[in-house]
Amino acid sequence: MPVGVFDSGLGGLTVYRGIQERMPDLKLSYIGDNMHAPYGVRDADDIYNLTCRSVERLWDEGCNLAILACNTATAVACKRMQEEWVPKDKRVLGVFVPLIEALTERDWGDNSAPREVAVKQVALFATPATVASRAFQRELAFRAVGVDVEAQPCAGLVDALEDNDLELAEAMVRSHVTALKRRMPNPQSAILGCTHYPILEHVFQSALGDDVKVFSQANIVAASLEDYLKRHPDMVGTDTEGRFLTTGDPQAVSDAATRFLSKSLRFEAA
Ligand code: DGL
Repeated sequence: MPVGVFDSGLGGLTVYRGIQERMPDLKLSYIGDNMHAPYGVRDADDIYNLTCRSVERLWDEGCNLAILACNTATAVACKRMQEEWVPKDKRVLGVFVPLIEALTERDWGDNSAPREVAVKQVALFATPATVASRAFQRELAFRAVGVDVEAQPCAGLVDALEDNDLELAEAMVRSHVTALKRRMPNPQSAILGCTHYPILEHVFQSALGDDVKVFSQANIVAASLEDYLKRHPDMVGTDTEGRFLTTGDPQAVSDAATRFLSKSLRFEAA
């Protein structure tokens, strides 16, 4: 059975690629809810219901484990899904915790009391829904004290990336960084808290300056998934090939995904 990877659209492909580079033999099935992207401007119930519907489709593909490769769904829906919806023999994992563990230099699953960490000023770039949820700050507070987080809701950026309008997207990144730096002039670290944003990591880095350490999720999530699968080998099998599914138009999404990852990808209707 494949491991499922979900996103509202194309952004989760950055996580997909990170997992594939780290574990080339792992079978993965991807679903993008392109018909309903972007999620970042939707309300919590809407995000919850849409995420459950797509993850259900991954269960139909034979997956026992689904990665929410979407910070918005992770921030708004993951905990509620785990508490109310996920069947006993299935698992749903979000993408926040591995990132925060990396930022606070913790080992996977180290649940000891919050403590002082090296980083003091963190810039968070994410969708409006992720920023409004304050989920990142909540998870961080379980692990670290004395860290100041300044969050910038990057309205419009996911739309520009889904439309492959890179010129607009780059201009938006620069203006969001400028807006954040007005409130926090010297962050030590920056979190790209949306799986679409790594496509423009170099633009974030150049707008922020070389002194700022930029964290993006693909490698971090891939490493934590590898660790998780060592501890839970029952969540994966090698028998079934994975597929790329979309709720949108398969041809249009295949074309957009191919441009997004600079790699030929073929999506099928979910
Ligand atoms: N890639 C999703 C995330 O990580 C984008 C959410 C959206 O569709 O707005 O938040």
